[in-house]
Amino acid sequence: MPYSLKGRNVLVTAGSRGLGAVICERFAAEGANVAINYYSNADAARELAGRLSKEYGVTCHVLQSDTLVAEENEKLVNTAAELLGSLDILIANAGWTRFTRPGDIYDMSHDEWNKCWNANVMSHLQLMQTAKPILSKNPDGGVYIMTSSIAASATGGSSMAYSVTKAAGLHLMKHFAFSMGPGIRVNAVLPGLLLTEWGQKFGETAINAMKDRAALRHETFLDDCADAYINLAKNTSMTGQQITVDAGLTLGHV
Ligand SMILES: NC(=O)c1ccc[n+]([C@@H]2O[C@H](COP(=O)([O-])OP(=O)(O)OC[C@H]3O[C@@H](n4cnc5c(N)ncnc54)[C@H](OP(=O)(O)O)[C@@H]3O)[C@@H](O)[C@H]2O)c1
Repeated sequence: MPYSLKGRNVLVTAGSRGLGAVICERFAAEGANVAINYYSNADAARELAGRLSKEYGVTCHVLQSDTLVAEENEKLVNTAAELLGSLDILIANAGWTRFTRPGDIYDMSHDEWNKCWNANVMSHLQLMQTAKPILSKNPDGGVYIMTSSIAASATGGSSMAYSVTKAAGLHLMKHFAFSMGPGIRVNAVLPGLLLTEWGQKFGETAINAMKDRAALRHETFLDDCADAYINLAKNTSMTGQQITVDAGLTLGHV
């Protein structure tokens, strides 16, 4: 069954910059209305919303919120649904980490581990608990797609806590998918190295080494990664799946 994205109402967390901004643009290009969540940079969010409304003739709203705060996740979903009139698709793209020394179990405080857990696991529970009745109202079905990471299926990435909590997030995704069918399709995208502000923090040496290790010898292009969200949103026969878009970085390394 084709699931057209035209006229759908979409919320993208961490949608104002980085991967989220490219995802917002791809949904707008499909004719979807977009609620763009940001955290600290209101100007970037407003600029993106203005450009997408003008270029694609869709409705865009900007919503400030912190993915680490439970009440804010609840409010974000309710406000997005109110402003857009309904909610069909939730792209839970926000994540949190701190770059630590690889393999060093002492190089992150317990508070920071808890922050990783809150951002990479609990935020999904909070978003879904609020969104479930709203997404379920859609007679064609609702969609929830989380941004995971190749660090969820391997032991690399920015920190051990990030890798562990992204892996836990994936398991939560599978529980969501199994318990919420047929009303809501739930899937995850696992990007490899993205050269966003976040990805640049790996530093030039590590970035070049990752490009060299990847079968395709380059980083994960943002457009290619954003494509996966569009394809998953349209595909009415996939749920509970983890789609890796990593230019072959993890091939041979897991
Ligand atoms: N970059 C990579 O190599 C890579 C690889 C695999 C997976 N990922 C995952 O991809 C997702 C997006 O990463 P990215 O590379 O696009 O990162 P990014 O460039 O750092 O993302 C920036 C976006 O995140 C928002 N943001 C920051 N803190 C937030 C918070 N507490 N609550 C809500 N929004 C917040 C920013 O809003 P403001 O600008 O307003 O603060 C901005 O919209 C994350 O889940 C990450 O784990 C990234």
